Amino acid sequence: MPGVDAARPGATVTRLALASLTTLRVGGEAEVWTCEADADVRDATRADFRVLGGGSNLLVGDGGVPERVVRLGRDYAGARTLDATGDAWLGAAVPLPGLVRRARQLGLSGLEGVLGIPAQLGGAIVMNAGTRFGEIGDTLQEVELMLDGRVERVAAADLGLGYRRSALPPGAVVLRARLRLTPSTPERVARAEAAVDAARRGQPKARSAGCAFKNPPGDAAGRLIDAAGLKGLRVGGAMIAHEHANFVVNLGDATATDVTLLLERVRAAVAAPLDLEWRRWGLPGGEAAARGWGGVPADARTATDVG
Ligand code: FAD
Ligand code: EPU
Repeated sequence: MPGVDAARPGATVTRLALASLTTLRVGGEAEVWTCEADADVRDATRADFRVLGGGSNLLVGDGGVPERVVRLGRDYAGARTLDATGDAWLGAAVPLPGLVRRARQLGLSGLEGVLGIPAQLGGAIVMNAGTRFGEIGDTLQEVELMLDGRVERVAAADLGLGYRRSALPPGAVVLRARLRLTPSTPERVARAEAAVDAARRGQPKARSAGCAFKNPPGDAAGRLIDAAGLKGLRVGGAMIAHEHANFVVNLGDATATDVTLLLERVRAAVAAPLDLEWRRWGLPGGEAAARGWGGVPADARTATDVG
């Protein structure tokens, strides 16, 4: 008998505008491989690739992405394995907002600090997403990675997690993660979440990719950009948000070129060096190419995305 694998449909491959898969809603096309099983991920990662999570920390070039873009599908997105014990393996495509909600309903503490972050679990781990109230790394025990065609387990302590950073091996795809949450009560979790919600209330609701820059030690990028008088600064459809100066919002028709030019203006106006928090992918298109903004090396597979 040929076995179950022969009947397995394999990854779904579609050409898509990455604008439709990112929260900033800019970026050109790529070949998107949606994987429903580890074997699909193994196949998809045989050529140069990038991994897409929730697309909430990405600036994708208008010219698109030449590498395969690997996404984890529905089979990696279920949060039901999280039960009252608080110790669970979860697929890397689980959306963080639903996971935070489920933890609260089960009376489990540990994810309050990541309330309001529109990531998938895998992307949250790679960025060690969080707030001053807590990071995803606080609850992370271990991950399962696809690395060079093999599934490997790595302890959280070996992932190099820090402020908005990790040091996963180049070319690794997070498939699953084991979190350990602490039994508490829904009421106490909700009270802790209220403080996080209050801290986030001033953030813009318009399309964005969250904070553009990391905070420099001892200061806040938003404060620096605000102090430089840049709120409301606009290039095409991209604008420094009035609500919070470290957010670039897409007014509706922004291109990656608009956003890139806006970031350049910010960096030119703020004396302190600002490190981009976003990951930048792909090729410049149109005007950006004409201006010689090559800037984004094809670093997939062998290097991390450029900041
Ligand atoms: P993506 O943006 O898709 O990818 C980010 C990086 O992770 C890329 O390098 C990608 O290749 C890699 N990656 C994704 N999934 C995998 C995987 N399974 N395996 C290997 N690599 C992978 N961030 C914070 O830290 N704190 C906040 O408070 C916060 N608030 C935000 C608010 C808004 C409104 C928005 C839009 C964003 C905010 N962010 C915040 C930024 C963003 O949500 C985080 O950086 C998040 O961790 C990105 O996760 P993602 O799944 O969207 O990853
Ligand atoms: N500030 C200004 N003007 C602004 C924005 C901020 O003066 O336009 C000042 C505030 O008054 C405050 C300081 O800057 O004194 C810090 O501001 P805030 O409390 O809003 O926090 P932040 O440091 O700007 C960080 C994270 C956010 C996270 C919030 C909530 C970074 C880069 N940003 O913002 O994370 O949601 O705390 O805890 O670390 C993200 O990483 O994408 C992100 C949104």
